[in-house]
Amino acid sequence: MVTDDLLKKVDKSKMPRHVAIIMDGNGRWANLRGLLRSAGHTAGVKTLKKILTTAVNLKLEALTVYAFSTENWKRPLTEVEFLMHLFSEYLEKEKLEMHANNVRIRFLGRTEDFSPLIQSQIQSATDLMKNNTGVKFNIAADYGGQDEIVRAAQKLARKVANGEISAENITANVFEDELDTVGQPPVDLLIRTGGDLRISNFLLWQAAYAELWFTKTNFPEFTPEEFIEALIDFGNRDRRFGGVTKD
Ligand code: FPP
Repeated sequence: MVTDDLLKKVDKSKMPRHVAIIMDGNGRWANLRGLLRSAGHTAGVKTLKKILTTAVNLKLEALTVYAFSTENWKRPLTEVEFLMHLFSEYLEKEKLEMHANNVRIRFLGRTEDFSPLIQSQIQSATDLMKNNTGVKFNIAADYGGQDEIVRAAQKLARKVANGEISAENITANVFEDELDTVGQPPVDLLIRTGGDLRISNFLLWQAAYAELWFTKTNFPEFTPEEFIEALIDFGNRDRRFGGVTKD
């Protein structure tokens, strides 16, 4: 439970617009307790609920979480199947509450390799929340940053071939319009739990100038308090975007 006191610690004028989270360490959290990896993912969902609630309370503009990468299909079938089941259950159970909280959900990634049931749940959650004006909540599923950039390049190549646009007119802004995050701000703060110090093919374009925040805490134990700690730390960063510090 996040107290009002804790929320008040965040200086709203220094809040990131877009926070992205690599929710890592579910498996290790479970192993440390002698549990199956699936128990770690179930615990991760509980954490995700709390973090989304905190984002809603803070009126964060956009939150993106890495739920399943294009490489995660390589995991044992039982784990992949469990993650799919969790994903489906999460959408079914949470969508009405998200909608009540004015959350606008979007899915980043391929999605076409998901089962027909999950694809229809994704469509129905997206449609339900499409006019909401609160937190833009992106779930990256079957997502890879390189894959997203390749898909965007393919879409543009088709437009050039059709004569809709000339190659010379392709700018960074035009390119961004073909990404899954079209219309959303770039990532300001990228958080990774679980102790590894890498980006793992997440939001490679959008995180070009993101501030990075790593914690050894495994995702199931990541708390709204630590999330807020990351936001406060972000507020103290000197962001130069390749320029110089303003005096
Ligand atoms: C990384 O931990 C986590 C994942 C690959 C999946 C993240 C999924 C959830 C938090 C739950 C499902 C999400 C939704 C939106 C319902 P890991 O398994 O790589 O942990 P490890 O590095 O300790 O092995």
